[in-house]
Amino acid sequence: MTNVKQADIGKEYLELTGDETHERIAAQKKELGAQLLILCHHYQQDDVFNFADYTGDSLKLAKNAATSDRQFIIFCGVHFMAESADILTTDAQAVILPDLTAGCSMADMATSTEVEGVWQELAPLLDTKTVTPITYVNSSASLKAFVGEHGGSVCTSSNAERVLAWALRRGGRVFFCPDEHLGRNSAHALGIPADEVVLWRRGEKLGGNKIAALQKAKVILWDGYCTVHMQFSAAQIEQLRRDDPTIRIIVHPECRREVVQAADLYGSTETIIRAVAESPTGSHWAIGTEINLVERLARQFPDRHIRSVSNVACKCSTMYRINPAHLLWVLDNLAAGRVVNRITVDSRTAGFARIALDRMLTI
Ligand code: 13P
Ligand code: SF4
Repeated sequence: MTNVKQADIGKEYLELTGDETHERIAAQKKELGAQLLILCHHYQQDDVFNFADYTGDSLKLAKNAATSDRQFIIFCGVHFMAESADILTTDAQAVILPDLTAGCSMADMATSTEVEGVWQELAPLLDTKTVTPITYVNSSASLKAFVGEHGGSVCTSSNAERVLAWALRRGGRVFFCPDEHLGRNSAHALGIPADEVVLWRRGEKLGGNKIAALQKAKVILWDGYCTVHMQFSAAQIEQLRRDDPTIRIIVHPECRREVVQAADLYGSTETIIRAVAESPTGSHWAIGTEINLVERLARQFPDRHIRSVSNVACKCSTMYRINPAHLLWVLDNLAAGRVVNRITVDSRTAGFARIALDRMLTI
């Protein structure tokens, strides 16, 4: 099979009606049978999500990929997720991202070159042997490789506290990339005082910190963030509680500290789904995460009152790039013997990144 990179998928796909596209996806999926696995993240639009073999948060999908023996894995999510799946699968398996422009703006906020530069800057100030780097899974394979090579681990939104605790036991200090908020929320949950958590601001001398503050810090945070989750505020939560005193608020840990503090619960997308599913009929929920997931929960549980924390639809525009037309295009190509949009990580990067991913899976 040849590997073709993304081309213009052509008018043929874009002019099909929704029903035609769905029928053809279903037929090709059946045709490819046990060779194929379709993984979908919870933020995918329903027209794609409904074709999933497995759905999940980042951790669950990484485990699904790692334990699959299917030849073709179509990853309906974003680029870093497909890279992790490629690292965790064999060379004989092809991981395919239906649209190569489905990236993650947070992952793009920390290149491995930038992080390595900061690591060098920290070296004369701190004994870097005492510092364990952690990267949120929302990061490039090369940043995961940097972390793996320096004794660190990946984490996801469902195990960040556990991984942070492991890293602190290891050397006493952590360098956490790229999500400031997941890092801060996890450090708070472990009881680390706020003055022992410092923010490294890109572009500022010493990240905008005094040497003494860096030397005192247990956790040094990169200043990355998710534009979707930054749209939620504590003021919105206060207003929701004024309007409806029975409402329960659950948010993703990529939200700012004050938002997590104002909520009743927080957790990964999988945790959010579980909390709503296990709540009694008639429960009122406001959810602080991507809108596709919130709207799906509202449809799945019509006996609960489910809404977003925000009145404005908070959509992950890159997740949204995976649409039925692109899914059908990759399936048609597979059926014709062509692998398009295969995500491959070079073997050196994959080797070190795998160390960091495996550490997470065993912690
Ligand atoms: P989860 O791992 O909780 O699904 O989160 C992934 C993500 O990108 C959230 O923005
Ligand atoms: Fe990245 Fe935010 Fe989209 Fe998640 S919701 S994939 S963190 S941009």
